[in-house]
Amino acid sequence: MTRRPLLIIVLAAGQGTRMKSAMPKVMHAIAGRSMLGHALNACQELGAETTAVVIGPDMEDVRAAALQQMPGARVYLQERQDGTAGAVLAAREAIENHKGDVLVQYADTPLLTAGTLERLRDRLDDETGLAVLGFEASDPSGFGRLITGADGTLQAIREHKDASDEERRIRLCNSGVMAFRLGDLLGVLDRIGNANAKGEFYLTDAVEIARSDGARAGVVVCAEEEVMGINSRDQLALAEALYQRHARLAVMREGATLIAPETVWFSYDTKIGRDVVIQPNVFFGPGVMIEDNVEILANCHFEESRIGAGSRVGPFARFRPGAELGERVRIGNFVEVKNSVLGDGAKANHLSYVGDGDVGAGSNIGAGTIFCNYDGFEKHRTVLGPGVFVGSNASLVAPVKIGEGAYVGAGSVITKNVSADALALTRPTQEERPGWAAKFRAFIMKRKARAG
Ligand code: UD1
Ligand code: CA
Repeated sequence: MTRRPLLIIVLAAGQGTRMKSAMPKVMHAIAGRSMLGHALNACQELGAETTAVVIGPDMEDVRAAALQQMPGARVYLQERQDGTAGAVLAAREAIENHKGDVLVQYADTPLLTAGTLERLRDRLDDETGLAVLGFEASDPSGFGRLITGADGTLQAIREHKDASDEERRIRLCNSGVMAFRLGDLLGVLDRIGNANAKGEFYLTDAVEIARSDGARAGVVVCAEEEVMGINSRDQLALAEALYQRHARLAVMREGATLIAPETVWFSYDTKIGRDVVIQPNVFFGPGVMIEDNVEILANCHFEESRIGAGSRVGPFARFRPGAELGERVRIGNFVEVKNSVLGDGAKANHLSYVGDGDVGAGSNIGAGTIFCNYDGFEKHRTVLGPGVFVGSNASLVAPVKIGEGAYVGAGSVITKNVSADALALTRPTQEERPGWAAKFRAFIMKRKARAG
């Protein structure tokens, strides 16, 4: 199948004042990824030859985020927010240099899938030069209404403020996503005026102009929730909830058990293997991979970590960036693992901090062990060979190495390397005074009797 090249224009210039945020609206995240990131991801999945992002003034962080995710993206500045047609025209250069289909999408509709965009694009053909993604609104007020003819083709889009009472009764609304296959898209856009209720240049006017040029316009309908636009924090939370519902179902379909799915939170990129069991109240930040047959007990928190097959972690365990567990590792309650590699079968079952460490296979880290990795200026590594046994409440002051099979006595503060198979102890020798306690008690009783 030969495909015409595709240009996607992502509109992100809106201020988003209702978010009440110092950050541009599209930088707010859903499932650990910005709304802009979700929109760009859909462009990537669609395989667009060119992606243009239109930003507003003071949005240099949006520009940087777009280029970081998509180094080939073209970023355009819309100096004045004078409407959606003005926003598209800010990307004039991209349109001029492109021969093929053009798709316009908003950056604040994070649940929109590439599949639906593809469906919209497929509506375009030699006659249908314009297609609009519509939805049946539960409450249409505020949206542009799609006015269709008897033959089902789109005649016009009427903005709410400009619509008659009769037109306002239409529930089929404009999502804002539009696809174009016109010989001269710029010629259409340049004829859009601003004689309307808002005094803005409406992209939606392109429908009537293209039709007057002889093009046909079509509608593709999708579910309302998929084109939900985010304007406020409560809508952000609602979109997050919808996203999570899909993510949980996807994880369970792939063969994981979630005991209380509604209490488990995934990121956009969380990878969960087969026969993984996840107990209640677990949070996955970005960059987490859980291999097969892992058991995650209640109340764990993960970021940028990999948990090897057959491991059991939690309850109440925390995995920070760079935690890499081999197979059948055990991490118990109140253990924090950061930037550390644990070999197969290693264990840290209670109350420990394992930071900047390399822990050999089969090593055991006793309760309360702390990897003292930070000297106030720099981080240093603690390296344990295989089969090391660290007694409870030890402090391992990095940089330090403990050789294969060595023992560290409970309560020790280890500042020097320990040789393989040695015992390292830093506590004073235990002393015993026979009968001391009995004598002490007798002395106290006598003093109390005297005091009367
Ligand atoms: C727009 C549509 C409306 C549709 C609704 C769906 C127009 C004229 N109206 O209305 O038919 O039902 O979206 O949510 O297109 N933007 C810019 N620059 C601008 C103006 C807007 O980049 O100058 C961006 C915004 O960041 C936003 C999007 O375009 O992502 C939509 O803008 P908004 O002002 O929210 O349009 P609506 O009035 O809601
Ligand atoms: Ca809007």
